[in-house]
Amino acid sequence: MTSSEPFAGDAAARTGADDETARTDSALEPIEEVVVVGTGFVGLPLALLLADRGKRVVGVDIDQTLVRAINDGTLNLDEDDLQALLETDAVERNLEARTEPTDADAFVVSVPTPLTEPNKSPDLSALEDALASIRPYLEPGDLVNVESTVPPLTCAETVVPALEDADLEPGAEIQLAHSPERILPGNVFDELVTNDRIIGGIDDRSRRRAAMLYEPFLEGAVYYTDLLSAELCKLVENTYRDVNVALANEFALIGEELDVDASEVIDLANNHPRVDVLQPGIGVGGHCLPIDPWFLNEVDPEHTNLITTARRINDKMPTVAARKVRRALAPLADPTVVALGAAYKPGVDDRRNSPAERIVADLRADGYRVRHYDRHVDELAYDDLRSVLEHEAADVVVQLVSHEETTAALEEHRSWLADAGIELLQFGVENPIDP
Ligand SMILES: NC(=O)c1ccc[n+]([C@@H]2O[C@H](COP(=O)([O-])OP(=O)(O)OC[C@H]3O[C@@H](n4cnc5c(N)ncnc54)[C@H](O)[C@@H]3O)[C@@H](O)[C@H]2O)c1
Repeated sequence: MTSSEPFAGDAAARTGADDETARTDSALEPIEEVVVVGTGFVGLPLALLLADRGKRVVGVDIDQTLVRAINDGTLNLDEDDLQALLETDAVERNLEARTEPTDADAFVVSVPTPLTEPNKSPDLSALEDALASIRPYLEPGDLVNVESTVPPLTCAETVVPALEDADLEPGAEIQLAHSPERILPGNVFDELVTNDRIIGGIDDRSRRRAAMLYEPFLEGAVYYTDLLSAELCKLVENTYRDVNVALANEFALIGEELDVDASEVIDLANNHPRVDVLQPGIGVGGHCLPIDPWFLNEVDPEHTNLITTARRINDKMPTVAARKVRRALAPLADPTVVALGAAYKPGVDDRRNSPAERIVADLRADGYRVRHYDRHVDELAYDDLRSVLEHEAADVVVQLVSHEETTAALEEHRSWLADAGIELLQFGVENPIDP
């Protein structure tokens, strides 16, 4: 069952436009206590918002340091809105972090779903562990809502059997939904509240109960569907973006071969009313785009040729960027390189699958002396760019990630760099690729 009609959205739509919804929802048990299993990039913001809106929330994580930091208020979040939320009285009152679940009305699962290397198969062990951990606490009438991104058929083949092991029949005794999270790191708070939400359910009751979970803060619309379509929807979204990035990157490779600036050509082409090519970059990182397309390949290798080729193109881009840096370094004798940027994209501290880190690793493997800094990453942070460059006696500075502040600082010091004889190489400064 797929409904392309939004159910919730703003309050007017919820109460006025859909009488059926309003009637059904008042018949459902309210959700007051929520367990969120996995309090990372996805789980913690949800836990914070729910606690802020008066729900009693237990955030469960196997990472004891994280649990301690949430409870004693020492956690530092990279996004100001989230940090402010963490410090509200309501969150302090209503959110508790633990290493073990407890009883609740609803259980949200937001644990990692990475790939095994080198064969790129989904590793669902964290999901299986999370489901096993909530099993003793599940009771008839509870809701289990999976937010993790999962390969197609995971709900049917992994989640349903895990719940049946608790002697609770999903759909009959317990509600099961899959509402994949689609927030953009760097703008998490805003997107959690305003993004539309896809909710797949094993039945109608499960879908509507899951919608109740988000109701305290959601301003976006809710679209109902089945579990498999919800799984696929998330993968289609991320694969679409990955393939489009790969197309831009392939244009850049052709441009390099022909000694033409592909970015300029793309800008020209984008004057066409039905063309909107992205800009090429140094590759694609993060926890979603480099992983999710492989989930489609896992279930249908025969029909994922374009998708896996795109993945490989994007994976190759750090090597291409490293080659460009090597060419620039070749005339210099034993240069000291300062690389700026380790995050996988501008404005965040997330280094998962970061192309910038791969470039630095490549250059170091070639024997270059590379000092690595990133304003957003605690271990690599610095205060003043010029002091760093002087301290390191830099010969070359390579900007790998276009954090706004880094671009501004380099601009400010442009003439000083020229006077000091420090060569500047910049990647991605005008590239609006935002995976
Ligand atoms: N990061 C994103 O931008 C993003 C966006 C949308 C969807 N997702 C998806 O959401 C899911 C979670 O991603 P994330 O970025 O939040 O990961 P994360 O690594 O930031 O957080 C996951 C947390 O789960 C904990 N954990 C692992 N196994 C556990 C277990 N058995 N019980 C309790 N806690 C456990 C980890 O310690 C970690 O703190 C993934 O499927 C990801 O693809 C991520």
